[in-house]
Amino acid sequence: MPPKVRKAVFPVAGLGTRFLPATKAMPKEMLTVVDKPIIQYAVEEAVKAGIEEFIFVTGRGKEAIENHFDRSYELEQTLLNRQKEELYDIVTNIIPASARIFYTRQGEALGLGHAVHCAKALIGNEPFAVLLPDDIIYSEGDNPLEEMINLYQDTGQSITLTMQVPEEHCHRYGIVDIEAQRGRAIVAKNFVEKPKENAPSNLACVGRYIFTPEIMNVLDKQKPGAGGEIQLTDAMTTLLKQQGFNAWVLDGRRFDCGDKAGMQKANFFFAMQRQEIKQELTEFIAELGYTKQLTKMDNAS
Ligand code: G1P
Repeated sequence: MPPKVRKAVFPVAGLGTRFLPATKAMPKEMLTVVDKPIIQYAVEEAVKAGIEEFIFVTGRGKEAIENHFDRSYELEQTLLNRQKEELYDIVTNIIPASARIFYTRQGEALGLGHAVHCAKALIGNEPFAVLLPDDIIYSEGDNPLEEMINLYQDTGQSITLTMQVPEEHCHRYGIVDIEAQRGRAIVAKNFVEKPKENAPSNLACVGRYIFTPEIMNVLDKQKPGAGGEIQLTDAMTTLLKQQGFNAWVLDGRRFDCGDKAGMQKANFFFAMQRQEIKQELTEFIAELGYTKQLTKMDNAS
């Protein structure tokens, strides 16, 4: 049986230029969706999937992430003194006390493949997950990362999470060339990073992966690809030829919080999951009358 997936890598070194000026002095991973930073969504998902070691690949100006996952004795004491037990529980349960957390730096922004490779020494000879925090994954069913780990346990092969995207959006993603499909499990025969045209399918990689440790050996030698960056997707194609590679189709939603509209959608969606906010938001939307205005605009065009 393949070894257990205990480790996860979170690439968090990106500059977040799309969210300037908000990200001038604050990491983009600390931008909030409702009341939690986006990085916390990915970490909670990993915790639920049984991950024990959390490896953050950070860069300059990302100290707020380290502080977020660390104890804050002054704040904890103040909350206790003021008898704010609920808030005390929230700030002390951001990550389980048993979690082992590591930070390593990506000195230069050379691409996602390079960021993952920065964790090589911490990964050693174990399979591991990669979670891109820009992608918030929501599922009413089982935790997709856990499903991927289960598939890995069955096959011993690497896996990427995927979803169908409209053809005109394929150029934004790594796209899977499909060999065979059984239910939600797909055998890949190739990957193409951000195809400008002739995408082999409309099945796009989204930011969750399980890798065998051999991906690091491939990344050792990976040359720059699309956009002049060391691409994870290119290394995946090489690994596929050596060991095979699977894709798992998401049954749920993915919010692209690396994008302004995607970020607002995530805020709206997760706010509507919260009973204490839902009513007020619903009334506000009705008051704005956006639905009516949009119908008018549609009719005019
Ligand atoms: C990265 C990957 C791409 C993947 C995407 C998912 O791209 O390179 O293959 O489809 O994440 O979010 P990025 O969004 O960092 O440009």
